[in-house]
Amino acid sequence: MMTHSSQQWPEWLPIRSDLSLLTPYGAPQLESKAQLNTNENPFPPSAALVEAIGRKAREVGESLNRYPDRDAVELRKLLATFMSERGKSDFSSENIWAANGSNEVIQSIFLAFGGSGALGFVPSYSMHPLIAQVTSTDWVSASRENDFSINASKACEEIRASKSNLIFITTPNNPTGTSVPISDLERIAQAAAEIGALLIIDEAYAEFSQEDSATTLIEKYPHVVVVRTMSKAFAFAGARVGYLVAHPKVVDAMKIVRLPYHLSAMTQAIAMVALQHRAELLLSVDSLITSRNKMADELGKLGLPVLPSSANFLLFEVNSPSLVWKSLLDEGVLIRDVGLSGYLRVTIGNEAENALFISALKKSLGGQK
Ligand SMILES: Cc1ncc(COP(=O)(O)O)c(C=O)c1O
Repeated sequence: MMTHSSQQWPEWLPIRSDLSLLTPYGAPQLESKAQLNTNENPFPPSAALVEAIGRKAREVGESLNRYPDRDAVELRKLLATFMSERGKSDFSSENIWAANGSNEVIQSIFLAFGGSGALGFVPSYSMHPLIAQVTSTDWVSASRENDFSINASKACEEIRASKSNLIFITTPNNPTGTSVPISDLERIAQAAAEIGALLIIDEAYAEFSQEDSATTLIEKYPHVVVVRTMSKAFAFAGARVGYLVAHPKVVDAMKIVRLPYHLSAMTQAIAMVALQHRAELLLSVDSLITSRNKMADELGKLGLPVLPSSANFLLFEVNSPSLVWKSLLDEGVLIRDVGLSGYLRVTIGNEAENALFISALKKSLGGQK
């Protein structure tokens, strides 16, 4: 074995020192009867959509010798139409960037704008600080109130005192499910403008919320960037499609940092098929909201306090989260221990999965007495 000085491989693996202690991110991918741990949509695509995707895949297959459209223009046009339909704004493809999941969009934001650091309000989506670290961006964790809300006045003060280029707000927030009113987002946008920072609003779960989307702020506040995904409400997590809505100058910066041909021809094509079926795909949103409210009531009846959720999951209080997590898994129910002391997070599944979760939970709580 080759050595570097006197060390044996892999001790001298030249990984960056700031990464050497990190472990790969990711929820356990375990076999289970009810997979309620990654906030996916439980409803698979309809037979008609699977058929349409298959036809499109065959068509695209015939030209896979060619690179895809580097700028995914047709997909971005369709995403702009979708966002314009939902909001009160009129977006074009110039306002949209798309990539392999919103995680890649977020990574590109860090690559382009990380510079003097990023600030976010924790607990929130743990990939934000992790991507900051991987892209060598300093991360500042600002705190939330005891009920996990963001106090807008305090947040504005913290932003004004910071030197960050990027301010992150996730709303509805993961893992808490709570949302930030649009009026507070506007105040926070003003504070971010004062220090010359972009305000990144991660709206991965926006379709499940009654709040207006922060896209309605972009016209007045061109430094507001809204990150969205097709992984949740669209039930398209496996295809890996995320996007942002922003001023065209932000989109121009994405083109500088993206890898050439980052979004495969297959991904672009099937995402467009899914968007053409958007009415059907988004039908699941209302039924998931109904199930979420029902599950919150059931948890309440079991004496477990639940945070108000505007997303497709619930964060609830429980004694001994890791014991409960394990006993649920023994019953075939996989939920998420997000590492918040005294809490567990459960994704809303289909009716059978939700029922299995509640009965396994009753059993687990009974066993603890
Ligand atoms: C708040 C938030 N943002 C972004 C993502 C990433 O989603 P994707 O990369 O599938 O678009 C997630 C995934 O769970 C999330 O919870």
